[in-house]
Amino acid sequence: MKDRLPSPFFLLLQETGALAERRHVRVHAVGGFVRDLLLGIPNLDLDLVVEGDGIRFAKAVARRYQARVTTHERFGTVVVTFADGHTFDVATARTESYDSPAALPTVQRSSIKQDVRRRDFTINTLAIRLNTPRFGELVDSHGGRRDLQDKTIRVLHGLSFIDDPTRVFRAIRYEQRLGFQLDWNTAVLMTEAVRMGLVHRLSPSRLSAELLHVLSEREPVKTLARLADFNLLQFIHPRLKWSSGLAQLLNAVEKAVAWHAGLSLGRLTSPWVVYGMALLDPLPQPVVQETLARLTFPRRQAQSLLWVSQENARLLPTVTRTVKPSETFRALCHLPDETLVFLRAKTRSARAKQNISDMFTVYRRVRPILTGNDLKAMGLKPGPSYNKILNRLLDARLNGAVETEADEHRLVHRLAKRC
Ligand code: CTP
Repeated sequence: MKDRLPSPFFLLLQETGALAERRHVRVHAVGGFVRDLLLGIPNLDLDLVVEGDGIRFAKAVARRYQARVTTHERFGTVVVTFADGHTFDVATARTESYDSPAALPTVQRSSIKQDVRRRDFTINTLAIRLNTPRFGELVDSHGGRRDLQDKTIRVLHGLSFIDDPTRVFRAIRYEQRLGFQLDWNTAVLMTEAVRMGLVHRLSPSRLSAELLHVLSEREPVKTLARLADFNLLQFIHPRLKWSSGLAQLLNAVEKAVAWHAGLSLGRLTSPWVVYGMALLDPLPQPVVQETLARLTFPRRQAQSLLWVSQENARLLPTVTRTVKPSETFRALCHLPDETLVFLRAKTRSARAKQNISDMFTVYRRVRPILTGNDLKAMGLKPGPSYNKILNRLLDARLNGAVETEADEHRLVHRLAKRC
């Protein structure tokens, strides 16, 4: 841990262990943090499990560091937010029972060994003790370390996917992200869970969350291809099928996202949306509408997904045809970056690709020299005509029709006479 974690973080773990010892509770780091630590993958997403009152302990940690806490009483979990914005989760060790398949569980207090028993895969059951005398000791009650070494995704028991069908998606995400393999029996149980239609029992919001996780992976294309291997695309919509066309478009999106990153203009806010646009692309527009109405994606992104499915057939020919930079600018200026990146991936036209590229790198930075204040100083009466004139000035500058301030003055005078 000392070698692989930033030293302030390591210190925080040590101090948390010392505090736990003083307060007579046992604290462990668990789950993805431990898995990634052992794999050497940077991950400071810390989950702590407390044998004892997790909420009280989290509050004590928060007091010690002047951090904030957000408590979820029902699940005995707390999010601790530090002054620098970093967060970690604290939970009370618990056992869960499921009243019905695919429902949220009911919860009881327990020990770390019982707590990890309810988890999805062996590689996520590893825990590290933090209490001072045994700080750093690995708790491996399900052979998680061996499976990490063998690069295997394995469920803990045969009913795992029945308890929680989202695990079918999780298994595929881990398999693809970590370059692991599904244990044979686990793959059989997954196939069976899909065949039984268990995924249909998930609420739209849980299904949407899983899909969002898949699309947000660093390499979503191979993860989506794997969902298709397991016949999971049908749960997004029965008409959604994997095809060479879809694979090609997704690969083009991957390249376009990388191209955008290479422009160093700042990261896309939601790269997952671009993959979502490609995934829904083969579906007829009413089907996309129906799918988005069922899924519970964030509103703004859902609107972009819908807009693209309605408009790309109209927009792409326009962007391919436009001759003047101002035409390209006007066609694209209201679109979010994600949509532009998707259109670049979707078009085969070199002209359209260039136009979209120019939009990012050139057109968006162009401004006329004259401003509204200059128009006022020239004696023009403020009103709606200002907008019209400034837009025409911008078009002229985009098209190279004006170069100097004097050119702009002349154009304003001409336009003012017509307004
Ligand atoms: N978990 C589970 N079943 C689920 C969801 C979560 O058993 N359906 C358990 C897993 O053991 C996981 C832990 O809860 O390690 C935390 O969940 P999450 O944060 O989603 O897992 P990470 O492994 O941290 O995920 P990621 O690496 O994708 O961030």
